[in-house]
Order: sequence, then structure tokens, then C-alpha cells
Amino acid sequence: MESKLKQSGAVSLDGVEFPVYSGTHGQDVIDIRSLGKQLDKFTFDPGYTSTASCESQITYIDGDEGILLYRGYPIDQLAEQSDFIETAYLLLHGELPTPDGLTDFRDNITYHTMVHEHFKNFFNGFRRDAHPMAVMCGAVGALSAFYHDSTDIHDPEHRNIAVHRMIAKMPTIAAMAHKYNVGQPFVFPRNDLSYTENFLQMCFSVPAEEYEINKIAASALDKIFILHMDHEQNASTSTVRLAGSSGANPFACIAAGIACLWGPAHGGANEAALRMLMEIGTVDRIPEYIKRAKDKDDPFRLMGFGHRVYKNYDPRASVMKKATNEVLDALELKDPIFAVAKELERIALEDEYFVQKKLYPNIDFYSGITLRALGFPTDMFTALFALARTVGWIAQWQEMLSDPNQKIGRPRQIYTGAARRDFVPMNQR
Ligand code: SDX
Repeated sequence: MESKLKQSGAVSLDGVEFPVYSGTHGQDVIDIRSLGKQLDKFTFDPGYTSTASCESQITYIDGDEGILLYRGYPIDQLAEQSDFIETAYLLLHGELPTPDGLTDFRDNITYHTMVHEHFKNFFNGFRRDAHPMAVMCGAVGALSAFYHDSTDIHDPEHRNIAVHRMIAKMPTIAAMAHKYNVGQPFVFPRNDLSYTENFLQMCFSVPAEEYEINKIAASALDKIFILHMDHEQNASTSTVRLAGSSGANPFACIAAGIACLWGPAHGGANEAALRMLMEIGTVDRIPEYIKRAKDKDDPFRLMGFGHRVYKNYDPRASVMKKATNEVLDALELKDPIFAVAKELERIALEDEYFVQKKLYPNIDFYSGITLRALGFPTDMFTALFALARTVGWIAQWQEMLSDPNQKIGRPRQIYTGAARRDFVPMNQR
């Protein structure tokens, strides 16, 4: 990656000047790398609410305007006009592909979708009811035990193979986690299907009968995957970058990202949001849950609401809500939970607490309803998020390794523990 930071000014602190850089869009940054040396002080920013951890050219979010761009292209245009493979190419290479470039990339991914035959043995170690995210953490980390020819992160060819392998194998592994859960045989990938159609058949086809791809389901899922692909330096992407900064191999880094994404405050929110909607059950019970969400003494939060960056409507939630409507109509499904979700959104967006705190639905609020309509069990929702986010994780990992400013990540702290003291022998305590 070639740095495109432009110095646009400076700020002075205790008489020391620190450069200010401007990017293409968004807030300027103050370069405080020399703060420790010059002022013998650190910044203090738990949760990194005001900290830019890196320069990136992949994704941009404007939280106030509710804007999300992948390599400059608005997310709603990509969701409506592109597909998973083309958007994955865009995130990795920075430009939309030519027809030949897209064909080569699509074929490369297609021909890496199988996993090593011995890989299946890993699954037998899990209980049948293991959460798919537990399986994904273990299985993806184990890939580094199989593909030694693509773990040398300093070899561009190894990095390139690892990028394609990771994107190609995630659907196969996610589908295997699902099949293991439901006690059905694993289904091999098929090279005659699109990325998303292939994933659906690996999840839902059974040897006992022909499987017919539902084009509406495939199109909706492809859109959902695009919406989940990348999102700047969110918790799991930052985890992947931090793991990668130590030189860990790409499979281990993605496994670390999966572990972080699993949390209900992050990618686990789509599963938690649907469970919450099912617990609410009917529109008349919504006020009780709104009250609980506002009660400081109650740990309950409205899952699928709020965001660290979006202080306006998450643009992905808008596309998601529309897709949910389309899928339910097209599949002629009436899901009472969708009515609860829409009413909960309406009430929350009129409530002073949510308005004042700028809490809007995020991508996880509606995604669960669509995934359930497509036939996925609730505990597979975050695994699907991980499948899609693997593109963003591996694109950011690749960018991090090529960043001229990259070094191992190692935050500092402010220490407020016990002052230095001598050990006290047991007989004096
Ligand atoms: C994802 O970072 C990303 O980009 C993530 C993601 C991605 O694509 O990678 O977008 C995916 O993780 C989406 C978010 C999914 N999580 C949820 O839906 C879980 C519910 N949301 C909350 O846990 C919360 O909103 C967070 C974690 C998403 C954001 O938390 P912040 O930015 O740390 O905000 P906060 O917790 O400081 O909340 C600010 C205030 C607090 O009240 P006060 O302490 O100021 O009085 O808003 C309140 C919170 O109590 N609040 C909520 C709330 N979310 C925040 N109150 C009720 N319900 C909620 N959902």
C-alpha cells in the first residue's frame, strides 16, 4: 500500500508540535507517535473511541451521515448491482474487475473450495451440539496445520494463495459446521455453482434427493454477504490486524477474528437480536423491553441497536430491511417476528432515550429474520457473518502487511496498581 497521508497542519501540546494529516474523507488525524518520547506521556483512549489505529484505503464510514463506502463505492449500489465475488475482488484489489479479471478471480476461488480430506477428522472431536462459532474458531485455526505452503507472510505468492484459500474455504467449513450440528453428511462443493449458490447447496442438500437452488434465496444471501464484508477497524478486524502484526500466519489471524466476532456486542448480535425478538414475541410486549433497555440497573440492551460509529441509521440496516421484506414476500412467508421488529424499531426511534443517545438499528437487527426465512438455524447466523467478513479481514490483513508504517501493535497503559514494595515472607503476614 502506498501511503496517501497529506499533512494539512499541526497542533501544539506543551510547546511541542504534532503533525495533522488529512485523508480522502472523514476526520483529520493528529500524529502522536512521538508523544511518548517528546512529552513522556501517553494518550488515554479505552475502546479506541478517538484513535485511528492505521491508514486504510479499503472502507470508509461516515457515522453521522450513515454512509458506508467500499473502495469509494456506496454499499447500497454494490448490494443492488454487484455480487459477492465481484465485491470481494474490489475489496482486495481496490478497483472493479475487468471481465477477464473477474473470471480469473472467480475460477481461482472456485478451485480452492475443497478442504483436505483429513480435515473432516477435526469435527469428530466436537460434541454434536457444539456452537458453529466454536467449530469455526477451531477449524479455521487448524488450516495452518494443512497449508504450510501459504503461511510465509513475507512471500507475496504465499500471501496471495492464502487470501484465495481463506475466501474459498470459509463457506465449506461453515457448511460443514452446520451439517455436523444437524447430523447430516458433509456435502462437497460444486464448481458449476456461484459462490453463494454453492454455499446453500453445501448447507441444505442431502444425498437422498436432488437439491434445487432457490434463486431468490441465493440472491438475498449474496446481498447479505456483501453488506457484511468489511467495516473499517471494527473489533474483529482490529483483532486480525493485531494478530497479523506479530507475523502470525493468515489462518491463525482469521481464527482470532472469528473469536472476537462471536461476542454479542459485535457479530454475535444477529443471533442475540433474533432471540430477543422471539422472546418479546408479540407487539404488546415491546414497551416492557424498551423500559428494560433504558434501565441503567438492567444489563438488558436492545440487541441490533446502537453502534460505536453510526449515530444515524446504519445504511446496511436499510438494505437489510428491504431485503427481508423481499424475501418474505417472494417466499410467501409471514413471519410475525418481522412485524415485532418493525414495531420495535418504530417505537424505539420515537423514544427520547434512543433519540438522545442516537441509537438506531444496525445491520444485526434485521439480518436474523432474513437468515431464518432462508432456513438457517439461529446459531449459524454469526458463522455467516464470519464467512462474509473473512473478505474484509483478509483484505485488511493484506493491506496491513504492505503498509510502510506497519509494526507490531503494542498499546501502552496507565498503571494505577500498588506502588513498588518488597516481598513479605509467610511468617510475617
Ligand atoms: C456490529 O464496529 C463495527 O463496525 C461493528 C459492526 C461491523 O460491521 O463490524 O458494525 C457489527 O458489531 C454491530 C453492533 C452489534 N451489537 C449490538 O447490536 C449489541 C447492542 N449494541 C450495544 O451493545 C452498543 O450499542 C454497541 C456495543 C454496539 C456500541 O457500544 P458503544 O459505542 O460502546 O456505546 P456505549 O455502550 O457507550 O453506549 C452509549 C450509550 C450508553 O448509555 P450511557 O452509558 O451513555 O447512559 O447508549 C446506551 C448505553 O447504555 N446503549 C444502549 C444500546 N446501545 C448503547 N442502550 C440500550 N440498548 C442498546 N442497544
